[in-house]
Amino acid sequence: MQIFNTQIELEGFLSKIRKKGIKLGFVPTMGALHEGHIDLVKRSVEENDYTIVSIYVNELQFNNTNDFINYPISKDRDVEMLKSVSCDAVFMPNKEVMYPKNFKKITLDIGMLNKVFEGPLRPGHFDGVLQVVYRLFDYIKPNTAYFGLKDYQQCLVIKALKNEFFNSIHLVFCPTVRTESGLAMSSRNQRLSSTGLIEAAFIYKVLTTIRDLSVHIEAFDALKYGRHLFIQKNIEIEYLEFANADTLMPGKNWFKKNKNIVLVAVYIEGVRLIDNIVF
Ligand code: PAJ
Repeated sequence: MQIFNTQIELEGFLSKIRKKGIKLGFVPTMGALHEGHIDLVKRSVEENDYTIVSIYVNELQFNNTNDFINYPISKDRDVEMLKSVSCDAVFMPNKEVMYPKNFKKITLDIGMLNKVFEGPLRPGHFDGVLQVVYRLFDYIKPNTAYFGLKDYQQCLVIKALKNEFFNSIHLVFCPTVRTESGLAMSSRNQRLSSTGLIEAAFIYKVLTTIRDLSVHIEAFDALKYGRHLFIQKNIEIEYLEFANADTLMPGKNWFKKNKNIVLVAVYIEGVRLIDNIVF
């Protein structure tokens, strides 16, 4: 597996690939890899001739400095994990490579996506994601890029980026990988104690309960019951809402004919965890 730290090294590698007309898959990450990330890499390895993974903790997308400073870093372990699934290359730029002095920020109006759920709660977050993914797509120009549905709203933001600037890149959104307890894998789980991990498994239980109850009772009553379950466990809810899964318009009306999603953000032991379920 090759490791690139600069754009020049990366360009050398990519130009050879392009000449050969090879299919290139790309998985952007911030490192501290777990099975959720590895699942995306495996899918890319299966579907492409070459797979490149980027590891870059993108300061621009952190609206909370402490979160950025405390973001887990495990580069050696990450590299070993990627080797073990036959990843071909890793791009690990530093800040100067990712954002050279003369770099131009892009602007993209993502409309509703900035106004709901993660948008207003994490000001500047999606703009930061857009800047870094734009630059990575522009450097790498993959045929296909892989993202996880765990970050559902991010997937829709990336779709908007693709539609505006990178029509030829094919996007693949992969299902959320969970531990046996149902907890969505996340780098943030590392910050939970063993009790915290047990509590966090409750998140998916509530989501599935809401989904299952919605078949039998009015969906908003099911949602209310879900809220009650969290409150009973003393879990702080930031949001727990229905939305239209295509637009993320929060659901005032419940339309059985739409694809629907329940999105949740809670705090457990001071760690902010998000999850969702589509049905
Ligand atoms: P990061 O949190 O490292 O996640 C990288 C990719 O892995 C994202 O597409 C994310 O949705 C996916 N992922 C994380 N946990 C997952 C799980 N349990 N199951 C399936 N996929 C999962 O998301 C980012 O980094 C950044 O915002 C990034 C896109 C790299 C831009 O900086």
